[in-house]
Amino acid sequence: MRLATPSGFATEVFLLEHPDAELLPAGPWTLVGDRCLREAWLAAGLPEPEGALWVSVPEEEKRLATVIPWLEHWAQVPYHRDLTVVAVGGGVLTDLAGLASSLYLRGVAWQAWPTTLLAMADAALGGKTGADLEAGKNLVGAFHPPRRLVACTGFLASLPPRQVENGRWELIKTAVILGDLAWADEMLQDGPVKFSWVERALAFKAGVVHRDPRESGERRLLNLGHTLGHALEAASGYELLHGESVGLGLLGACLLAQEQGLKPLPATLLATLARRLAPLAPWVAPWEACLPLLARDKKAQRASAPGAQAAAVLIHCILPRLGETAVQRTLPPEAWQPSHQRLLAMLQEVEVLDA
Ligand SMILES: NC(=O)c1ccc[n+]([C@@H]2O[C@H](COP(=O)([O-])OP(=O)(O)OC[C@H]3O[C@@H](n4cnc5c(N)ncnc54)[C@H](O)[C@@H]3O)[C@@H](O)[C@H]2O)c1
Repeated sequence: MRLATPSGFATEVFLLEHPDAELLPAGPWTLVGDRCLREAWLAAGLPEPEGALWVSVPEEEKRLATVIPWLEHWAQVPYHRDLTVVAVGGGVLTDLAGLASSLYLRGVAWQAWPTTLLAMADAALGGKTGADLEAGKNLVGAFHPPRRLVACTGFLASLPPRQVENGRWELIKTAVILGDLAWADEMLQDGPVKFSWVERALAFKAGVVHRDPRESGERRLLNLGHTLGHALEAASGYELLHGESVGLGLLGACLLAQEQGLKPLPATLLATLARRLAPLAPWVAPWEACLPLLARDKKAQRASAPGAQAAAVLIHCILPRLGETAVQRTLPPEAWQPSHQRLLAMLQEVEVLDA
């Protein structure tokens, strides 16, 4: 099924159960894929071009250094400007292969074939490619949208349950951005992930990205859960996965919305979020560890009030609202402290009740 996307949108989006070789590039192409998917790729009857690279890239190796051998290999073959790179894997692989495509010969076309739920629902769409630096995640990259995104849910059959749960949080995030709490509640129940959820999340993200490709306004809403989430992810030494951190940050943002005087989200929703997140409590770092990371957020800005001695740091926060789209606020990092403490208390309370 081809998803309806806004006219002129840079990426054609397909959501299928089984892969379709017809969707591979018509012209010269090569492949960079996650080694653990090679068997499934071939078993699905998909071709393997000469020069294909099957690699294994953990998050710790999401670095510029990882893509240099790929670029050298492409130049040795050699591939020309009419090349299309097909990226097959999770968000680490699609982010890196997209980045390599933006660099090779100053930019060649690429297709994303995401194979994790997180990459299907979020990472592979929107044109943000990137790699990590010592100083933080995704600090280097380019906006380089794939020509085509082909999400084949059949590939999810081998995905470990923790990775499925990880992707589910990005879907739940979309429902909370929209203020559609019935949808959030449905996804918070146990049971399999539905095709229609991924379809709705992709359609929503495509619309937002089309209106604001460079994240200067509306696209920031997609960062709901990411402000505190990124700090918790880094403070856990990356023991927490990205989606798990977004889930924790989402509950934190719901609590901060309350602190900021927005209409409180239903206590039942907060309790359901806390119950699902409770197993992550041991990895939630104390406030003292989160504060410096919040202040170093990529989207932090320095604001000096007239007459102030030193510039204060302000960070961009997305706050959910009941029945309405989330809102954006600029707040000092310290504003998160009460929400962080309530978040931790809620998770620990569930653990005690379950013990
Ligand atoms: N570009 C964006 O807009 C964007 C948005 C969100 C996240 N991201 C990035 O995405 C990355 C996280 O992506 P992820 O959660 O997909 O992690 P990942 O790419 O590390 O994949 C998770 C694990 O699943 C394995 N795997 C992949 N597909 C599989 C399958 N079908 N069956 C079995 N195992 C499979 C991988 O080998 C890996 O071990 C982060 O680096 C994050 O920064 C990017």
